[in-house]
Amino acid sequence: MKGFLIFAHRGASGYEPENTLSAFELALTMGARWIELDVYAVEGELVVIHDDRLERTTNGTGFVMDKDLSYLRSLDAGKGQKIPLLREVFDLIRDRAGINIELKGPETAASVSALIAAAVTERRMAAEQFIVSSFNHKELLHFKAINPEIRIGALVSGVPWRNVRFAEKIGAYAVHAGINIVNRRFVANAHRRGLKFFVYTVNTGEDLKRMQDMGVDGVFTNYPDLFSY
Ligand code: G3P
Ligand code: MG
Repeated sequence: MKGFLIFAHRGASGYEPENTLSAFELALTMGARWIELDVYAVEGELVVIHDDRLERTTNGTGFVMDKDLSYLRSLDAGKGQKIPLLREVFDLIRDRAGINIELKGPETAASVSALIAAAVTERRMAAEQFIVSSFNHKELLHFKAINPEIRIGALVSGVPWRNVRFAEKIGAYAVHAGINIVNRRFVANAHRRGLKFFVYTVNTGEDLKRMQDMGVDGVFTNYPDLFSY
């Protein structure tokens, strides 16, 4: 497993409410070296939540982007946890793990870039600690243009071949693909272009082995304790 990356997907989300400080803390306790999370920008702050609606993971209702920050922060995101701000997550993680920030909401690139830049200069976090990814390739391009130092990952859920070319073209570090579209040729194609290949979401030892046999470079899992480090 040397060099193979394991990302705690939305933290140790198989055990604690996803994308909360308790899920991130547990992932660290379990030895995770990378943590994945999802962000939206609201009133100049980055909030960490996956869905564009609030119902599944909180006691709120409606769309994240329709709400003000004080409402979002008043909600219970599970077991009494709040929806975290990205800067709170940085405070928690410090230099203890890498962070894959997935740009989920619109117009997140500039805020994420600014927060990472501040973390590197003021909090002694390292540029290598970050990978920024998105299904929104326009947002990803925007991020790359304003912060070319930080590695980016092109998230793909379909039409793989075109996306691998795209990832190479924009100077991505990696392709992040859903487990159901992964095959040996897809992985080899990415590798030929100098791209790493990470797969979401891998929650069993059997799937992990299958992915490793295909030559992938890392996986996202809700159960970071299942895989050894
Ligand atoms: O970043 C990998 C994975 O999180 C992408 O899909 O829907 O879980 O954010 P999703
Ligand atoms: Mg995600």
